[in-house]
Amino acid sequence: MTTDFLPLNGTDYIELYVSNALQAAHFYKTAFGFQSLAYAGLRTGMKDRESYVLVQDKIRLVLTSPLYKGSDIGRHIDEHGDAVKVVALWVDDATKAFEETTKRGASPYMEPNVIEDEHGRVVQSGIYTYGETVHIFIERKDYHGTFLPGFEKWESNYNPTSTGLKYVDHMVGNVPLGEMNKWVSFYEDVMGFKQIISFDDKDISTEYTALMSKVVSNGNGRIKFPINEPAAGLKKSQVEEYLDFYGTAGVQHMAIATDNIIETIRELQSRGIDFLHVPTTYYEELAARVGPIDEDIETLGKLGILVDRDDEGYLLQIFTKPLEPRPTLFFEIIQRKGATSFGKGNFKALFEAIEREQALRGTL
Ligand code: FE2
Repeated sequence: MTTDFLPLNGTDYIELYVSNALQAAHFYKTAFGFQSLAYAGLRTGMKDRESYVLVQDKIRLVLTSPLYKGSDIGRHIDEHGDAVKVVALWVDDATKAFEETTKRGASPYMEPNVIEDEHGRVVQSGIYTYGETVHIFIERKDYHGTFLPGFEKWESNYNPTSTGLKYVDHMVGNVPLGEMNKWVSFYEDVMGFKQIISFDDKDISTEYTALMSKVVSNGNGRIKFPINEPAAGLKKSQVEEYLDFYGTAGVQHMAIATDNIIETIRELQSRGIDFLHVPTTYYEELAARVGPIDEDIETLGKLGILVDRDDEGYLLQIFTKPLEPRPTLFFEIIQRKGATSFGKGNFKALFEAIEREQALRGTL
């Protein structure tokens, strides 16, 4: 057994570049039940951007907008729309993380550097992954502040209740045709991940569209990144549609775990989040497909929650519609009851649902 050259403790934060971070923060608080955590901007001496940090259990979302024209953040928003820029990873040694990955071929995004305030010090560094997406390594063992140096605690009078979201289960990237294996190799060779699952177009195809997907995971299994590429179909696949609107490879969805998906989805739907719906026939066939489950199938059907089983157990999952005007980023809500897979048995029903949405958008 070789030692893990890139030990990762978990996801540190997800940063989105958005056109109006103040309003986006309100949306994620109201609709998804995030809480205000920290702020950086003009009031804290940050001159060129404003960032709002939200938290729910182990998930931290950072929403950032530029303050002036001509910025790289503004260009990113123009090219990709509101989008995930940073998938930050929590490490014990950000300098070593940078050295180990760049010597194996990663493109540097941020040289190791120390940021400090009265609450301690953080070392951070960063590398590029697919498209314009980056991984920032955060070493925070000597830091006791709210989020990061440069941020102040954000006290808000508006604190909507949690919707039961717990942690990031996986983050999915869409890459152009022919690039899936290149990015799987990147995670294997440069970051020391292992491929744990692969689907081909026979697993994931409908009458019209197909995609291929491989899932890579780090050594302790806390970080899982499925990578999708489009496969040839009669019409435009959802991955191609994503790439058309996003302009390059990027994060397609972020899957967030809950331990009570029925309560979470009731809450999210009541707060205005729209989910993809599968036909009612899905639920007629469900018991035969997945066997006995704890949940009432009629309740799952009313909420549109999907179920899949693997050798280790089952999982419940549901997908939001895109969370911005472009059909790009969406969220998945997932509850695992033993299953360690990603819902392969749901792909067909789900993609047919996505195609109905594509047809309505005129992009199928
Ligand atoms: Fe997923």
